[in-house]
Amino acid sequence: MLNAVTLLFFSTFVFLASADANQIGICHGRVGDNLPSPHAASLLLKSNGISKARLFLPDPAILSAFNATNTELIIGVPNENLTYLASSDANIAQNWLKSNIFSFVSPDHVRYLVVGNEVLYKDTFYSQYLVPAINNLYNALQILGLDKKIKLSSAHASSVLSSSYPPSAGAFDQQFLSVLVPMLQFLNQTGSPFMVNTYPFFSYINDPTNVPLSYALLGPDAVPVKDGDLVYTNLFDATIDAIVAAMEREGFKGIPVVVTETGWPTAGHMVATKENAAIYNGKIVERVRSGVGTPRQPGVPVEVYLFDLYDENLKSGGEFEKHFGIFSLDGSKLYNIDLN
Ligand SMILES: *[C@@H]1O[C@H](CO)[C@@H](O)[C@H](O)[C@H]1NC(C)=O
Ligand SMILES: *[C@@H]1O[C@H](CO)[C@@H](O)[C@H](O)[C@H]1NC(C)=O
Ligand SMILES: *[C@@H]1O[C@H](CO)[C@@H](O)[C@H](O)[C@H]1NC(C)=O
Repeated sequence: MLNAVTLLFFSTFVFLASADANQIGICHGRVGDNLPSPHAASLLLKSNGISKARLFLPDPAILSAFNATNTELIIGVPNENLTYLASSDANIAQNWLKSNIFSFVSPDHVRYLVVGNEVLYKDTFYSQYLVPAINNLYNALQILGLDKKIKLSSAHASSVLSSSYPPSAGAFDQQFLSVLVPMLQFLNQTGSPFMVNTYPFFSYINDPTNVPLSYALLGPDAVPVKDGDLVYTNLFDATIDAIVAAMEREGFKGIPVVVTETGWPTAGHMVATKENAAIYNGKIVERVRSGVGTPRQPGVPVEVYLFDLYDENLKSGGEFEKHFGIFSLDGSKLYNIDLN
């Protein structure tokens, strides 16, 4: 009897743990002047069975709305705040967390704090402040008794890699190692994930002669890439495994990878179509849900946040930047995709 109950307990636990890691999350950016309210956005996620969201800024109204729907959140600590947080101490960092985040959202609902977004790619001024800010925030979470519950990391562009082909040759760009190595030490010591934003769409449009569309798109007819004994059928897997190889090259094994952004736009470029977005995002959801892992780490689940909930009409850059939304403003899906 006891054995049966114990067994039931453990199998339930294992099921919940893997189901959790396998869930898909969605990013909710708000660079637009026509967006539904944060409340409507939080309800839209909930009604589609999505229980995790990435919010880029600790905006009080958005945090409150998502707290009300019990959404599990990964919340950005803005690049612009890193100087302040790096030069502070644990008490100042604690006050910052309380007044910017925990006044509006219960710590129970916070999964990760993403300290800086793509700093090494587009905001290098803040590079030297990244790890000191993370350390101060970590000490603050320790004082609050939240360091086991809320993990800290920073989201990187996949350009932190100087080599990614074949995936086993994955290596970080030398110029970033002085920041990345102490960060990897922190992630290793605290059991936190390495976070990467990766867009096979950009790889394709920047180099269409060398990156086949079907390989970027997770299409069915991609010509496989061989890497020793491993076979890659898509760029998404190849990028994750290149990151894993790069971390191992620096001596860090077993740090999980979280894909904090990936997606495919529906307009603004020849291959930015609803059909392609449905294929790419649909395949990503399928892979996450199945827990298939990657060729280098089969069965190791990869947590993914799809970009983006809605189109953001004020985004700068190419026209396609404005068209990553999965949902239209009225809450209907822009294309057929099974999200869970
Ligand atoms: C944090 O950054 C925002 C801009 O994103 C700025 O308005 C605010 O003053 C900063 N706060 C601190 C404490 O650095
Ligand atoms: C957030 O939601 C929880 C319920 O899940 C509630 O207890 C709490 O008061 C809410 N607000 C804040 C600021 O934590
Ligand atoms: C840190 O890395 C070492 C060596 O790669 C590994 O044995 C250890 O389990 C890691 N710690 C955590 C918390 O992941």
